[in-house]
Amino acid sequence: MAKINFIEADGTENELDVQEGWSLMQAAVSNGIDGIEAECGGSCCCATCHCYVDEAYMDKIEAPSDNELGMLEETVAERKDNSRLACQIKATEALDGMKVYLPEVQS
Ligand code: FES
Repeated sequence: MAKINFIEADGTENELDVQEGWSLMQAAVSNGIDGIEAECGGSCCCATCHCYVDEAYMDKIEAPSDNELGMLEETVAERKDNSRLACQIKATEALDGMKVYLPEVQS
């Protein structure tokens, strides 16, 4: 279990206990958090689960696949160095305490 804080574009914080192995997208959607649309259901083909990852945790997350890097070219909100797709990040205990910032728009 990892405590992960999803911070919406308006500053609303949503701290969730995320089960290991769940994707950040699954955790956000199943808890009704605004800011993650996840139109493709986690297949890495919509880029509507775009998020900005806490830079202090970047090295605790698996590097993005070529497929994810390609989809990150399609984000509606500005792509930044810490942009990732929430469906491609699996929760581990190493992510305990991480903040995930959600963009203002996804589509
Ligand atoms: S849910 Fe579609 S790319 Fe993540």
